[in-house]
Amino acid sequence: MNNLFKTKPLSELLKESPEGSHKLKRTLGSMNLVTLGIGAIIGAGIFVLSGQAAAQYAGPGIVISFIISAIACAFAGLCYAEFSSMIPIAGSAYTYAYATLGEFIAWIIGWDLILEYLFAASTVAVGWSGYVTSFLKDFGIIIPPEYTAATGTKLLNVPNDGWRTLSETLIQSLQQAGIDYNTLPQATAIFNFPAILIVFLITILLVVGIKESANFNNFMVVVKVVVILMFIVIGFFYIDYNNFESFIPENTGEWGKYGWSGVLRASAVIFFAYIGFDAVSTAAQEAKAPQKDMPTGILGSLSISTFLYILVALVLTGIVNYKDLNVSDPIAVAVNRMGPEMHWFRYVIKIAAISGLSSVILVMLMGQPRIFYTMAKDGLLPPIFSRIHSRFKTPYVSSILCGFAAMLISGVLPINILGELVSIGTLFAFVIVCIGVWVLRVKKPDQPRPFRTPWVPLVPILGALICLAQMAFLPSDTWVRLIIWMLIGIAIYFFYGRKHSVLKN
Ligand code: ALA
Repeated sequence: MNNLFKTKPLSELLKESPEGSHKLKRTLGSMNLVTLGIGAIIGAGIFVLSGQAAAQYAGPGIVISFIISAIACAFAGLCYAEFSSMIPIAGSAYTYAYATLGEFIAWIIGWDLILEYLFAASTVAVGWSGYVTSFLKDFGIIIPPEYTAATGTKLLNVPNDGWRTLSETLIQSLQQAGIDYNTLPQATAIFNFPAILIVFLITILLVVGIKESANFNNFMVVVKVVVILMFIVIGFFYIDYNNFESFIPENTGEWGKYGWSGVLRASAVIFFAYIGFDAVSTAAQEAKAPQKDMPTGILGSLSISTFLYILVALVLTGIVNYKDLNVSDPIAVAVNRMGPEMHWFRYVIKIAAISGLSSVILVMLMGQPRIFYTMAKDGLLPPIFSRIHSRFKTPYVSSILCGFAAMLISGVLPINILGELVSIGTLFAFVIVCIGVWVLRVKKPDQPRPFRTPWVPLVPILGALICLAQMAFLPSDTWVRLIIWMLIGIAIYFFYGRKHSVLKN
């Protein structure tokens, strides 16, 4: 029993960080790490999910939801910063748990991180597919609907709008417009082709090299940040202050439908928008000066994204009444409201969304193989996962395996199921990281910490509690999926990892 909780000595962990012939290449500076973070953070959360959360739960109060979620992430981010400066190893929360809470918890968290990275890449690939399909449609290129959505999704061809997922809300709004949905053309999706395609292309890029991937990411990040800033500045002049009259719309009597409970529920949904700053920590072994640059990368990218999100949410709900925001491209809808003279901006927004989402997929798909790499080095996964390409110096076997898995997942599953699973999995990892920082302060008070989380244990405790509370706001079927996933992981540990672990008792 004891050996389930054996911890990996810090001295041993730190030995893994110097370079060697078969180690990862150290090429990333602090600017690279900040852009890596922003690349992972700004994506489907703001471009796709923000409008739905405002429309269904919070109204313009979504601005407050963004602030609440940012506070949880800031606490967790401070804890990540301490760990990643102290243990600059590619495995992220998995490694931190190994050093503090023991092998079994480390395995659990490593397994859980698959939900964050692999599934987030797949979720965002589905969002990417939606924007690309709509962008191509603007130019008259129609992808057959059967190949644009999750397997089995029912689609409806709505006049002036094109193919949309058949839902209760859609049926109601068609009824209000006097249209019987049964009279419209319908289709059933077979698989999501654009989602598979983007994962395929990014996997090739990742196999070829981290430096190339980082350059591509920098370019994508510049595009999305510039366009978001344009949206904020231009949009500011189109705000209709009447839309803020009921800033937090009155609760309907149902828990989570507007009012403060709605603001809180929206904050759990919108949490997805912040996921990714921790991906910076997975590049620790490729950072030139991880002790100094990791905290800058994590906290810098988180602050910049928070600032942009709050302003986007304000402008978005200022231009469009929240009731009209239940769409998959809310920012494009806001641009439409700016009038015909701003029509050109619609294309710019879509290009930014497409590139923004691409960079999220890239960083997430870059993080996952690096976690596998570390787990395989520890013997908890088969050695093939830690194989490094002799020329490209990338963990190419696990990159390819992750690519295939993500292609499969994004090709067949819908965005809402995926998104919620990602959120719950990530919140769980954050809880463990927060607790881990505190545990290590008690167990190893004298270990050098280039970055120290302030006010320990207050910050870790608050971080863990807020993340737990956010988990509680997610629906029960998401909890069931998390538990099933974890049971599979536990079985694998007992049949494989435990027997092959390289760590002596
Ligand atoms: N934060 C990332 C996004 O919003 C996962 O797409």
